[in-house]
Amino acid sequence: MPIDDAPREANRILHSQQFIDDPESLFAPLRTHHPVCPVRTSSGRQVWLISRDEDVRALLGDERLIMTGAYGAGASGTRNALDRNLLDLDGAEHTAVRRLAAGALSARAVSRHRDLITRIIATHAERLPVAEPIELITAFIRPATLASTCTVLGLPEADWPAVEGWVRALLSPRQGTMHVETALEALEPYLRDLVRKRRELPQDDVLSAISSAECPDDVTENDIVSLCGMLVIASFENTGRTIANAVHRFVRHPGEFSRYATTDPAERHVLLEDLIRVSLPEPLSSVRVAARPVQVGDHVIRTGERVMFAFGAANHDERRYPDPAWVAPRRNAPDHLSFGKGAHFCLGAALARTQIAVTLDELVRRFADIHLVNDRGPVWQGTYRHRELVRLDVRLLPLSQGRARHDR
Ligand code: HEM
Repeated sequence: MPIDDAPREANRILHSQQFIDDPESLFAPLRTHHPVCPVRTSSGRQVWLISRDEDVRALLGDERLIMTGAYGAGASGTRNALDRNLLDLDGAEHTAVRRLAAGALSARAVSRHRDLITRIIATHAERLPVAEPIELITAFIRPATLASTCTVLGLPEADWPAVEGWVRALLSPRQGTMHVETALEALEPYLRDLVRKRRELPQDDVLSAISSAECPDDVTENDIVSLCGMLVIASFENTGRTIANAVHRFVRHPGEFSRYATTDPAERHVLLEDLIRVSLPEPLSSVRVAARPVQVGDHVIRTGERVMFAFGAANHDERRYPDPAWVAPRRNAPDHLSFGKGAHFCLGAALARTQIAVTLDELVRRFADIHLVNDRGPVWQGTYRHRELVRLDVRLLPLSQGRARHDR
């Protein structure tokens, strides 16, 4: 990238298939030459893209960068509750809404669901054919993740296909046939009704906990519906895409599946964290806006200007991760930014970590290795915000007799 022309070139790459195929092809030169680089979002607004780990971490804790007004949320006039969510709120208002779900999604609360999650994912893994070619994302990763997510959240099974369709329309507008507005108009009344039902008859699930939580006076019914919408939208795709990326890594790097399989199950979480670092599906954060001027290196972000954090770039910053492209937990720092940091740290991180760990455990418990078939190179689709692997055509190799792994 010629340095003089860098912002224009960065913007071109950001909106091209090149970025969806390989975000590092943009991030690596930005970290070195333009750690605070102006680009445009798909709506044409200018944002400063921040790519160095040190800057991203410092700014994630900086109260001068706020969410309120960053997207002009609520300004569409649709009066749809989902139009304004946790990632549009700041300060006390954000804390009050977030608190409604924090208990039900804490590591301790999620650990109560671990056996259930394992049973659901194991049921899907049991059906996987051995040694035959399969497309693993549709055969296993998506349905197993969807079923475990919906069960923990508390969505009735009959509704899963419809909700999945609405969420895909919201996150992957270019692929679907449904308009974003149509999906929002369907999802909002659906959730409003579900919140009412769960309040009347609570069950052991996250939406029941939120619906029947004691609310401060300034938290409205719309806030509750919006919170549930945010959980559904944020959970449906991200976890499955992370798992697909992690398995893709296993098949592209011979020996990594075996390394994972032969690591003591009690020690796997260390390996898992570095795997989550390199497998994050959303390379960029939500947009923030400067409420006051903020200095970043030798650059000043002025009041009213917007920023976006390149979590994917920070996760590959060689200043923090000496082996950024490799899963090397002993060398790389353990605290990646795949789940963000600070006030807006991912509310579903404990659930996602559990689902990823259980899914990979089920694979290594049942299979000796995973080999690619029809390898014409990976195909990625999506946008600069949401990117996904289209297919994962593999063959699952059987464990040889007597080598069954008893990991649980
Ligand atoms: C591997 C899967 C996941 C990844 C990589 C991920 C990543 C993230 C990231 C990076 C953020 C911060 C965004 C920012 O600061 O701009 C975030 C926020 C959030 N995530 Fe996740 N997420 C995942 C799964 C989930 C799940 C399963 C749920 C719900 C059950 C969830 C719910 C949320 C919510 C509600 C927020 C907003 C928190 C707030 O604003 O206070 N996420 N996630």
